[in-house]
Amino acid sequence: MYYMTFDKNKKNVFSAIQPSGTMTLGNYLGAIKNWIPLQEEYNCIFSLVDLHTITVRQDPKEFHKNILEAYALFLACGVDSQKSIFFIQSHVHTHAELAWVLTCYTQFGELSRMTQFKDKSSRYSENINAGLFCYPDLMAADILLYNTHLIPVGIDQKQHVELARDIAGRFNGIYGDVFTIPEPLIPKVGAKIMSLQDPAKKMSKSDSNVNAYISVLDSEEDVLKKFKRAVTDSNSEIKYSGSLTGVDNLLNIYCCVTGRNINDAENEFRDKGYKYLKESVANAVTSEFKSIQSKFNTYIKDLGYIEKCYKEAAKEAYGISKEIISKVFSKVGFILK
Ligand code: TRP
Repeated sequence: MYYMTFDKNKKNVFSAIQPSGTMTLGNYLGAIKNWIPLQEEYNCIFSLVDLHTITVRQDPKEFHKNILEAYALFLACGVDSQKSIFFIQSHVHTHAELAWVLTCYTQFGELSRMTQFKDKSSRYSENINAGLFCYPDLMAADILLYNTHLIPVGIDQKQHVELARDIAGRFNGIYGDVFTIPEPLIPKVGAKIMSLQDPAKKMSKSDSNVNAYISVLDSEEDVLKKFKRAVTDSNSEIKYSGSLTGVDNLLNIYCCVTGRNINDAENEFRDKGYKYLKESVANAVTSEFKSIQSKFNTYIKDLGYIEKCYKEAAKEAYGISKEIISKVFSKVGFILK
């Protein structure tokens, strides 16, 4: 995709994900699967935000591998390098540059109120680095470099998007219209996938119990095994309660994967037992993963192709972002080179 051919009548979408290891079923249904259809309707820019990931200490070898694998996996999930710009954040230096400028237009108090910072600083109390604190400015830079109109994100990122809007509005207030003010695009229905072992908790790859989450690259046997062990309720009814039960979570996963609505799913499982429900969910998930896994295995063996995609994408992303960064630099009074 060449940005010169970006359709001016279409809105621009930007979204990003950290390449921090295992992609879970939760990440897939909550984010990536929603990105795919957007490519038909919008000018899409997607990024693997590796600069964000080092706010938490990474093992360099492992991290390097995670980035390449994440890139291949996104292609396998249907991020289409012909339709969208899909780049690696550290390849486009304007992100770090704009992040610094925006940091100087953000108040300490605003960053202190970010719930994700509070969360992460209690989880990683041995390494509360300044990057973790300033991370929302880097995220604001990601978004604001591309005249973004819409940002598909989960509800947990809404506060960061609001901050990006505030900062953009503040900057525009001082210097005139430089940034497009973006809006979050938050999925209305149920893409929050919970732990299979504790449905009150979000499904997470950092869970100490591997049965709590499913990886997109899990084998068919593992997927079935994990669903079989999923917690359900003490009665045997298959009904959506809306109060975060194990059955709610299974129905939700089933509907997200198959595109059915909850009512239809309830009808389908009426008079059926939990065993049947679990096997049906496992089958639906495995059949969706099958084609992703086979494409992933092809891409990951073809590093030349992956490299061609991310290099091209970085060039295009830079091409768009440099116009914004030059505007910003000139507005604040820097001497342009
Ligand atoms: N902060 C997001 C997360 O942890 C990832 C992210 C970084 C992002 N930059 C972004 C998401 C820009 C949307 C837009 O999930």
